[in-house]
Amino acid sequence: LVYWPNGQFEIGGNMSDKKVWLVTGAGRGMGLDIAKAVLAAGDNLVATGRNTDKVAKALGESANLLVVKLDVTNPSDAEYAAKAVLDRFGRIDVLVNNAASFYAGYFEELSSEQMERQLAASLIGPMNVTRAFLPIMRKQRSGKIISISSSAGFGGFAFGSAYAASKFGLEGWMESVQTEVEPFGIQTMIVNPGFFRTELLTEESTNYAKAYIQDYNEGREQQHAFWKAQNGQQSGNPAKLAQALIKLASQKEMPHRFIAGADAIGTAEQKVALLQQQIDAYRGLSTSLDYDS
Ligand SMILES: NC(=O)c1ccc[n+]([C@@H]2O[C@H](COP(=O)([O-])OP(=O)(O)OC[C@H]3O[C@@H](n4cnc5c(N)ncnc54)[C@H](OP(=O)(O)O)[C@@H]3O)[C@@H](O)[C@H]2O)c1
Repeated sequence: LVYWPNGQFEIGGNMSDKKVWLVTGAGRGMGLDIAKAVLAAGDNLVATGRNTDKVAKALGESANLLVVKLDVTNPSDAEYAAKAVLDRFGRIDVLVNNAASFYAGYFEELSSEQMERQLAASLIGPMNVTRAFLPIMRKQRSGKIISISSSAGFGGFAFGSAYAASKFGLEGWMESVQTEVEPFGIQTMIVNPGFFRTELLTEESTNYAKAYIQDYNEGREQQHAFWKAQNGQQSGNPAKLAQALIKLASQKEMPHRFIAGADAIGTAEQKVALLQQQIDAYRGLSTSLDYDS
């Protein structure tokens, strides 16, 4: 079902107690699993994507479904989506910033254009969408924003400088916004998945840097082999993650962070231990930097 709004809207027009969700990148991967889980829970869904035919085909018909074109890198798409949601449902309860891409490669071999495209999709994209929906949530004095980060949101890794930069950025932004919008009844949750079996590591979603620096030849070969071998073998089941998100979003208070998957917990625990070790190693020097008075 593709719905074209007439540009008129009214907040509070929908008196139903079904929640209204918007999911970005709902045509495939984790976004599709989240979208299916929302419909299965009986809630209303605004499923968005760059290609609305693809999204509509993936989800089939449902009275609770509105499909809207939303390329997250385009702020006017985001504003249009916000108007379409108000026009059709009169409110927004849960916004899921899911869409992202993966630019893989050594930092020196990633072009500045690739870095910009990574940040545009995975960092600026969620900002564009959230900026369009916050005025509605503030007016409602309610709303939940779920941003899908990664274990790359708290730990960098070789070949992942672009992706990790986008996810670290996403987290710094989301944590800051959380404190700004909390007074208006708006909650945020960062989700850190480990490896989940989606389409992220397929050619459609993963873009490799151009190989041209000889010093990296050996490592690059191993990296390519690793990432290609991971595709289809990831242990995480995105349908189960989708169910977990439905559960968390239905709580009165969502956690500010949800670490998804035993592998992601392992990465988080390593990071916590490393930070503690880094604090302890130079505590004396760190705490000796104030003015003497
Ligand atoms: N799978 C994992 O192991 C894993 C681990 C950690 C975090 N994550 C995160 O989970 C989220 C979902 O990823 P996934 O694993 O489901 O990947 P995926 O299967 O590759 O799906 C990516 C989705 O994002 C959409 N997308 C990409 N660029 C977009 C844009 N500019 N505007 C709108 N939609 C766009 C894609 O739509 P198109 O069909 O139009 O390309 C697709 O629907 C991402 O934030 C990812 O970083 C995934």
